[in-house]
Amino acid sequence: MDKILIEGRQPLSGEVRVSGAKNAALPLMAAAILCGGPLILNNVPRLRDLVTMASLLRHMGGRTEFENGRAELDMGTLHSPEAPYELVKTMRASALVLGPLLARCGRARVSLPGGCAIGARPIDLHLKALEAMGAVIDLDGGYVVARAPKGGLRGAHVNFDTVTVTGTENLMMAASLARGRTVISNAAREPEVTDTARALLAMGAEISGLETDELVIDGVGALRCASYQVMPDRIEAGTLIVAAALAGGRVVVKGSPHQALDAVYDKIREAGVGLKPEGEDLIVTSDGRIKSVGLVTRPYPGFPTDMQAQFMALMTVGDSAAIINETIFENRFMHVSELRRLGADITLEGHVAVVRGVRRLSGAPMMATDLRASAGLILAALAAKGQSEVSRVYHLDRGYDKLDEKLISLGARIRRAPA
Ligand code: UD1
Repeated sequence: MDKILIEGRQPLSGEVRVSGAKNAALPLMAAAILCGGPLILNNVPRLRDLVTMASLLRHMGGRTEFENGRAELDMGTLHSPEAPYELVKTMRASALVLGPLLARCGRARVSLPGGCAIGARPIDLHLKALEAMGAVIDLDGGYVVARAPKGGLRGAHVNFDTVTVTGTENLMMAASLARGRTVISNAAREPEVTDTARALLAMGAEISGLETDELVIDGVGALRCASYQVMPDRIEAGTLIVAAALAGGRVVVKGSPHQALDAVYDKIREAGVGLKPEGEDLIVTSDGRIKSVGLVTRPYPGFPTDMQAQFMALMTVGDSAAIINETIFENRFMHVSELRRLGADITLEGHVAVVRGVRRLSGAPMMATDLRASAGLILAALAAKGQSEVSRVYHLDRGYDKLDEKLISLGARIRRAPA
């Protein structure tokens, strides 16, 4: 198990390219189940979660090949519509195979998911929605055992009680091969949902309402092979922007998805950081002086919960107090106690954190608790005086394509070492 050592207070400079989006690549890989031939994905990042998803597809009988950011996924030989616990336990997004398996095979056996420990994170809404399409679902020994009705899933009107990203993707994929029309109300509008919809369109699906909270899907008899370019990772881009803001300097973030990051750009600009889009690039300039700015996490187009830990790291050195209200997950403040180890002044009350900026953070050992929290800790360490150490970085490797190497290329003094 590796740890990352960071020597803080080194200004960053240079160019860094954003990788493909983990949260788009995951549903797109699951979408391969829907077609009988190969699905080619380009701009696929190198991440542990995607390796897990590939193992899952191979376990089902599929063929997966990865080379230089290109994935070829062929589920023509799918024989076993099952996702076992050993593969699913580290990754909640495994639930994404449920809808496609039911639609393609009429049955599925999928272990209940694991993944980041950031709250209860049930999949009840996914199951309720598939039941509305006629699926019969039982829970047996930690597995969801689902069966489609005779003749296959049928279109339905589903109104999600809560906005759910993977729930919307799961249902959209299932509905693409169902009989008749499915309407998803209160659908998630996250850019990764739209990216998944665009890939399904390229495969021959009939979907309208993209980028709105009502998706209309008319089921088709079959989907065809296609080639699709995964969108850039907005959370990785946001993380790199905050790194430059905290360390100070001038960094060009290449391929930053500007529109998808609107809410994040707004907040970072309010914090006094210079952000200048130039074509598909973003020029970030910071003198390291940060204004305190509060925020509330919301479903897209609001401020993403996946950027909350990183933004909190930024606020630890703000000029006054910032109130951060986490409304998506009930237990997503585990980085707070670790940030305090650097000298951050943060008080918590339920889902609200008050972050009072301090003049100086000082390096300390910290432990990563979940994927985005681990990024937040590394960012804060960039601003701290002296050496910090972040252990349990396997969380980081699940979802960031070599973040440490990218920061090193910008001049950060970071080193990976065995723990
Ligand atoms: C996805 C993202 C994750 C991001 C999150 C919110 C992927 C692979 N992961 O996770 O990075 O943090 O969106 O933007 O895309 N809920 C239920 N029942 C359900 C489903 C969700 O109660 O059946 C609740 C969750 O506990 C949470 C909220 O709804 O409080 C939103 O969760 P959801 O959007 O489903 O998150 P994920 O799709 O798991």
